[in-house]
Amino acid sequence: MIGRLNHVAIAVKDLAKASAVYKNALGAKVGPALAQPEHGVTVVFIELPNTKIELLEPLGEGSPIAKFLEKSPDGGIHHVCYEVDDIIAARDQLKSQGARVLGDGTPKIGAHGKPVLFLHPKDFCGTLVELEQV
Ligand code: CO
Repeated sequence: MIGRLNHVAIAVKDLAKASAVYKNALGAKVGPALAQPEHGVTVVFIELPNTKIELLEPLGEGSPIAKFLEKSPDGGIHHVCYEVDDIIAARDQLKSQGARVLGDGTPKIGAHGKPVLFLHPKDFCGTLVELEQV
């Protein structure tokens, strides 16, 4: 069902500092910071030859990554995103196998303007999984 790895998301406290690490130390192509108030994060996309890295910094009160950074103050891998052809079909198949979809199960428009869903880490090897319809 799943296709390509679309991105790995890394939560950080300081987006400018994290961007500099990827740009200067690792020599990556680092994009501009994009505020996404509806998701409670500011995002920087890093283009790699075969996938993307998404740096996430908390934005505003009650950011969904604030708790994560309390536990991991140095930052850390927050989720992985896999591509699917049909997000509704993928959701229904996963639910029929007992997997938990976060929220009300309705896809939201994600950081790339495409429908996304998140799956409970307890059902996927302790890793928060994002599905993105491409
Ligand atoms: Co993501």
